[in-house]
Amino acid sequence: MTPPKEYQCLNLGCGNRFREGWVNVDFVPADRAVLAANLRESFPFEDSFFDVVYSSHVLEHFTRKEANQFIQECMRILKPGGVVRIVVPDLELLCRKYLGVLNRVRQGGELWELDWSVIQIVDQLAREKSGGQMKEMLNSVEKSVLKQLANTSSTARRIWVERNGDEDKQTHASSPSVAPRQHTQTSFGGIKGRLKRFLVSKLCPEYSSAACSIGRFRMSGEVHKWMYDAIQLQSLLTSHGFVDFRVQDPLESMIRNWDEFGIDIEPDGSPYKPDSIYVESLKLV
Ligand SMILES: C[S@@+](CC[C@H](N)C(=O)[O-])C[C@H]1O[C@@H](n2cnc3c(N)ncnc32)[C@H](O)[C@@H]1O
Repeated sequence: MTPPKEYQCLNLGCGNRFREGWVNVDFVPADRAVLAANLRESFPFEDSFFDVVYSSHVLEHFTRKEANQFIQECMRILKPGGVVRIVVPDLELLCRKYLGVLNRVRQGGELWELDWSVIQIVDQLAREKSGGQMKEMLNSVEKSVLKQLANTSSTARRIWVERNGDEDKQTHASSPSVAPRQHTQTSFGGIKGRLKRFLVSKLCPEYSSAACSIGRFRMSGEVHKWMYDAIQLQSLLTSHGFVDFRVQDPLESMIRNWDEFGIDIEPDGSPYKPDSIYVESLKLV
């Protein structure tokens, strides 16, 4: 369902989850309907324009300073009474799961489970190449293990569908691809970028190799720069003047008709990104 015309909704860093009737923005637009903008800068919208500002799995890709500027911009472009909804990986939930698995493994549980719960917290913060250890592990685990992981991770789900073709179509075929994409936000992209890289490799070969490629990757949009729990999110939002902070479920919201938009869920009603925290706040009227 699309929002009513007079109800202005914005999806920041939409990736493949752009929706008709919404203003969809991403650094690398997945479609002509998506507006290209760098959300580390001022948003290209006037003050007090939107009723809803939504962003899923974007904030954790920014440094804390950038995240502060992002939330400040959300406040600026929202109408008084407007709702901001932020979805990010839930640090508390992931840590609680890790501690549970740690106990199980101490009592004889399977080591891969511990690897997976550490990977879920640490890998995207630490990785130096696309996909990191998460992809390596998912590519190496047995089919039965991958199937279990596909129920809890959208990356595992994508790899499961890639590896097993249509076998699991009924439950997961409509999942959009969430393959990590590399969005180099430096001046090293395009033809100019290739020329720069070529010159650097000729003038400074030892530097250009490992350090440069890791640096370029770390400045891409794939790595996580921070992780959040409810208290940090509340503090971030209230420090910019947001009120009425709430932790919600995927289908629960202060946004009108939210359950009909189907943004935080799959068509079968399961959460789109399990292990997320969904928070909302209001701009004071
Ligand atoms: C992990 S994806 C999440 C996509 C989608 N919101 C979802 O929940 O599936 C992160 C998205 O944020 C976008 N992104 C990252 N940094 C950005 C920036 N500085 N400006 C605009 N978009 C950015 C990426 O291009 C990517 O599409």
